[in-house]
Amino acid sequence: MKLTGSQFGNLALEFVRVTEVAAIAAARWIGRGDGKAADKAAVDAMRKQFNTIEFRGEIVIGEGAKDESHELYIGEKLGNGGGPVFDIAVDPLECTDSVANGLPNALTVIATGPEGSLYHAADSYMEKIAVGPEAAGVVDLDAPVAENIRNVAKALDKEVSEIIVATLDRPRHEQLIAEARAVGARVRLFSDGDVAMALGTCLSRSSVDILMGIGGSAEAVLSAAAMRVLGGQLLCRWKPKDEKHVARLAAAGITDFSKIFTAEDLAKGNDVSFTATGVVTGPLADGVLFASDHMVTHSVVMSSNPKTVRFIKTKHMQ
Ligand code: FBP
Repeated sequence: MKLTGSQFGNLALEFVRVTEVAAIAAARWIGRGDGKAADKAAVDAMRKQFNTIEFRGEIVIGEGAKDESHELYIGEKLGNGGGPVFDIAVDPLECTDSVANGLPNALTVIATGPEGSLYHAADSYMEKIAVGPEAAGVVDLDAPVAENIRNVAKALDKEVSEIIVATLDRPRHEQLIAEARAVGARVRLFSDGDVAMALGTCLSRSSVDILMGIGGSAEAVLSAAAMRVLGGQLLCRWKPKDEKHVARLAAAGITDFSKIFTAEDLAKGNDVSFTATGVVTGPLADGVLFASDHMVTHSVVMSSNPKTVRFIKTKHMQ
């Protein structure tokens, strides 16, 4: 049975309750120095809420393997209904360290699609470049950093000096940062959260024009699902960090690290959804606010069929 666009839309709205409860649970750990506890709180809340929804889902990107005794493990079945099986990719807490340290960009995230639609191989790293819709088509992972920046500036009708390049603050990006600065662009270093930064390139509330650099492969698939709706461009390529990662990818059948993946390759088909709730404020969503008798969450729900982006602010009475 194939679901219609509106059925997918309704389910996407159910998923926002999942990311909301996970965000509230994780937010109680903001700044307490314990990322693991924050992550566990998000995972437990997410799993419980998922299982109240009438659908059938299977985790394809999650917290790890079943034998590592994780919840939301790869292969875990979720939901209490019938119908077709959905692929589910989760990052119950994107940016655990940010929550531990009270830093920005933390989100609870879910992407879904029909069975087989979300690319999954093994956890490793990918080289990424993301731009918003107006610059879609002008970047190339093989082009020099300066050329990509100049092309994006032209597409956005900006001076190169006005372009903001976001990249994770990691030693592996020293060369990229030097090249971006040398061409005259401004570089925004961030400690964690390349999902929020990739999607920020498509959103007017963010000043980021390009995301560049190496980040997690799971985060690449999650970002791809949203990019399908937002109309930006995301290009990714495997970049295993060491021999262990190479072996892990080889075990999953991946030995060619030259292939460039588009958002359409990572999140295929016409029925993809992306749902995220802010834990700590970032370019995609504001974080959880606590008041004396209620909490406020800020979520983004995107569906590809029909293409909709909903910004949902919810007041949760205690
Ligand atoms: P977590 O969800 O594991 O906390 O990931 C945060 C993050 O910053 C991602 O946004 C990014 O893709 C990845 O980590 C980068 O990995 P690393 O911290 O190993 O450089």
